[in-house]
Amino acid sequence: MKIAVSGKGGVGKTLLSAFLAQAFAHDGYGVIAIDADPDANLGASLGFPDSDKIVPISHLKELIRERTGAKESAGGAYFKLNPRVDDLPDEYSLTHNGIRLLVMGEVKRGGSGCYCPENVLLGALMSHLLLRRDEMVILDMAAGIEHLSRGTAKAVDRLIIVVEPGQASMETAHRVKKLANDIGIQELAIVGNKVRNADEEAYIRKGVKDLDMLGVIPYDAGLVDAQMRGVPIIQNQAIKSSVDAIYAKLTARAN
Ligand SMILES: Nc1ncnc2c1ncn2[C@@H]1O[C@H](COP(=O)(O)OP(=O)(O)OP(=O)(O)O)[C@@H](O)[C@H]1O
Ligand SMILES: [Mg+2]
Repeated sequence: MKIAVSGKGGVGKTLLSAFLAQAFAHDGYGVIAIDADPDANLGASLGFPDSDKIVPISHLKELIRERTGAKESAGGAYFKLNPRVDDLPDEYSLTHNGIRLLVMGEVKRGGSGCYCPENVLLGALMSHLLLRRDEMVILDMAAGIEHLSRGTAKAVDRLIIVVEPGQASMETAHRVKKLANDIGIQELAIVGNKVRNADEEAYIRKGVKDLDMLGVIPYDAGLVDAQMRGVPIIQNQAIKSSVDAIYAKLTARAN
């Protein structure tokens, strides 16, 4: 299964990605967790030691040059559009508690689809991970879905959009749904997060409209406290039990 997680900034995409990765690993699956947020913190959430020292792939200038053969010349830049990437997941990932973590770094923006060596390498790596690897993939994305393309979309078994009580994240969810449908992802689901009471849950359930609801995660003040003490969020038991219910639903539907 390949699962992508999206939603508005700060709704809990990384939190859900981390707990899902943990649930799959606990069930014995090989798991690749991909941090595709430029402001990467999936490693820290999963409790990877020295997570602040992980260098994102997009920062590995020498590797990018070597793989794409990028050369600057008077006539412009030249580089390969199909760089070799099959060895990168093993070479440039870290493993902790049975989860392999790959930190992608930022996709450069610019004109229409900015063809630059960094993006070509990241794109090739993403499609390798989604299309050619057998492991479970959990893709923690920034607020949009620009890491996915028409080509990789078909490999995504489920795009989970995280929302919190409030209009803004609902609007983002419906926007992401449209973008996802445009590139060919049909299997969408919603997870509500930071839910404090039945009214908030009802608000979310009403707002998701025709989208499939996988479940809700309660707001837990203990998380803030744990973060201040530097405890990985993955150790929070209340969140774990609600994500376990979501995990059960997710895997039941896949079979
Ligand atoms: N259920 C929850 N209860 C309490 N705090 C939460 C909950 N879920 C997430 N948070 C807190 O909200 C903040 C944002 O969560 P997280 O980083 O998972 O969101 P995100 O969507 O990945 O954000 P970004 O868009 O910045 O990548 C974090 O400080 C996190 O600890
Ligand atoms: Mg995040």
